[in-house]
Amino acid sequence: MLYLGSSEDDLTAAVHLLRAGKLVALPTETVYGLAADATSPDAVRAIFHAKGRPADHPLIVHLAAAEQLPFWACEVPEAAWILASAFWPGPLTMVLPAARTVSQLITGGQRTIALRVPAHPVFQSVLRQFGRGLAAPSANPFGQTSPTTAAHVQHFLSGRIAAVVDGGPCPVGIESTIVDLSGAHPRILRPGMITAEAVAQHLPRIATTDAPAPRVPGTLASHYAPRKPCFRIPIDLHKEPFPGQRLGLLATHPTNWPVARFWPMPSHPEDYARVLYSTLHEADASDCDVLLIALPPDEPSWVAIHDRIRRASLSLGGSPASGVRAESL
Ligand code: TXA
Ligand code: MG
Repeated sequence: MLYLGSSEDDLTAAVHLLRAGKLVALPTETVYGLAADATSPDAVRAIFHAKGRPADHPLIVHLAAAEQLPFWACEVPEAAWILASAFWPGPLTMVLPAARTVSQLITGGQRTIALRVPAHPVFQSVLRQFGRGLAAPSANPFGQTSPTTAAHVQHFLSGRIAAVVDGGPCPVGIESTIVDLSGAHPRILRPGMITAEAVAQHLPRIATTDAPAPRVPGTLASHYAPRKPCFRIPIDLHKEPFPGQRLGLLATHPTNWPVARFWPMPSHPEDYARVLYSTLHEADASDCDVLLIALPPDEPSWVAIHDRIRRASLSLGGSPASGVRAESL
């Protein structure tokens, strides 16, 4: 696997690889994406293979600008243009009715397509040189914690992809907000750092989903998960939960019981989201036996973070992650 920087020459090399149908991991403002030519069925197939992703889980196609929407969507409702001008380029994905020319491999056999214009200058520059859409899921093996640095990608996918472009750590840190505009009423399918409240300022009739389709993998109960046992705990848990085990704790404040490792987490949601996955990667690679994540405040600006924590962890009672709702929206 080539390890590229973000110089003009390196980005040109990345574009050549993409034109040859190869897979290149690229930084976006949310997480690193595993990019391939969205118009090449073989290249798209290779994404599923490299990630070990089931074929019925659709991909997001990334575009340089909103003007390209009509090429990919057979219908672009007014709401899409409104959200595009409010939030693009940026961490928002729209689901629209797919154009007939779009490969079923990308849509997972559905009649809709997910589209996003990313803000990261490296991804933007590659898209502009490349000229077409790039299909790009998060650049991690299916079900595991998403990568927010090139080193995370290298760790997981080295040997399976042609190159990674290092554009530094991702500034948002968790995946984009997904808004479904293909039905009668707009719905949020996956919460992100563009909150439901922010979207509602532009689309007052937005709803949040309470029963997401299983083919939206980011909404499977267990996703984004470290390999070590990982539990979420109330921030004020008074008693040591697993005596005798080496505990690793991610929390905004230390507890009054001992832990082997403590990762202090930021108390502002934007800062927390930025470091959540990189901290989970570090904790997963540590010598701890069990990871604990103290739940942050139950407030609207923390909804997307709660969602990712729920999917990465089990509740302390041992019940499976119940994260199929964004309850507090
Ligand atoms: O921030 C992001 O969105 C990152 C970066 C790389 O752009 N990408 C990302 O891709 O998170 P991925 O594949 O890990 O998650 C894409 C999500 C999945 O939950 C998928 O099911 C959903 O988008 N999706 C894709 N097409 C869809 C469709 N037609 N209808 C509903 N959901 C769709
Ligand atoms: Mg993903």
